[in-house]
Amino acid sequence: MKKVLVINGPNLNLLGEREPDVYGKLTLESINGEMEELAKELKLDLEFFQSNHEGEMVDRIGSAKKSFAAIVINPAAYTHTSVAIRDAVSACGIPVIEVHLSNIYGREEFRQKSLIAPVAKGQISGFGKESYLLALRAVSKII
Ligand code: DQA
Repeated sequence: MKKVLVINGPNLNLLGEREPDVYGKLTLESINGEMEELAKELKLDLEFFQSNHEGEMVDRIGSAKKSFAAIVINPAAYTHTSVAIRDAVSACGIPVIEVHLSNIYGREEFRQKSLIAPVAKGQISGFGKESYLLALRAVSKII
């Protein structure tokens, strides 16, 4: 079974209680649970990683190729600031799908630019938890 690494960046551990009007009321655990269910159907094996630390995310992206066929990542605030994560994505050698719960293009100006998108395989933004599920479906088609 092909393995997919699901990476969530800073503050996404607080989903459910964090700005529920923007990000919804689901916890990260319940989104991960729904991804697991879909993954069974798609015959994918998922591993989840959440971190509030840029360097830890860079490390996981950089070593992913050894074990994973693709990455689904919500880089959260680092989307808009991190050249280090962009470079890691660009160098990692496997397809990376960028996801966002909210539509970053409909929000504050500073969120409307993604440093990751130009080096990702694609981006899905604005569908809440469905963004993650759509990303998984995309992954299953391209790997
Ligand atoms: C987010 C959007 C980012 O701008 C924000 O910093 C997040 C979450 C999203 O999923 O909508 O933490 O990536």
